[in-house]
Amino acid sequence: MLTIRRALVEDAPRIVRIYVDSWNAGFVGLMPPITLDEARIARWSGDLAENHWWIAEYDGSPAGFAGICPSRDPVQPDLGELDTIAVDPAYWRSGIGRALMQTALEALAADYPEAVLWTLTNYPQAQRFYESTGWTPDGNTRANNTQLSYRRRF
Ligand SMILES: CC(C)(COP(=O)(O)OP(=O)(O)OC[C@H]1O[C@@H](n2cnc3c(N)ncnc32)[C@H](O)[C@@H]1OP(=O)(O)O)[C@@H](O)C(=O)NCCC(=O)NCCS
Repeated sequence: MLTIRRALVEDAPRIVRIYVDSWNAGFVGLMPPITLDEARIARWSGDLAENHWWIAEYDGSPAGFAGICPSRDPVQPDLGELDTIAVDPAYWRSGIGRALMQTALEALAADYPEAVLWTLTNYPQAQRFYESTGWTPDGNTRANNTQLSYRRRF
């Protein structure tokens, strides 16, 4: 059974494992691989304390996570941002990303009239996922066109 609950600082090691595994499986050829280490867990512990994060568990095992924050690029307090969403590759394409997105969208809609997210330009997996969950490219890019942004209004 799938459950989604607020993530706690103590979830940092579980969240970092999902982050690292999904990055290394998803971004092959697009981004260098990353490692699971104590410094990364410490950084995520700080993020988990400050932002709004949720963790998805499938039959009690951590399977994915998502978080929201005020927009960082542009810095705009009345614009929400989907900070990160990631699912353990073992569970890809089983609806966990969509369920996490639903939770994140409800929270964004409660706090903001509009939200933005950034993803990689040459990465159809995430682009199809975002389009299937109601996001639309807004025409903005950054980092030499290697990232593009999506928006949606509530
Ligand atoms: C993007 C990601 C979060 C999607 O999670 P997921 O749990 O596999 O997504 P879902 O199973 O809920 O898929 C929902 C819909 O998104 C679309 N989708 C998801 N993965 C897709 C893929 N590989 N190819 C095409 N469409 C895809 C489909 O429309 C899918 O619906 P369907 O399966 O009924 O056709 C996951 O692939 C992931 O963690 N990737 C690595 C990290 C990442 O890319 N993060 C976000 C980008 S910064």
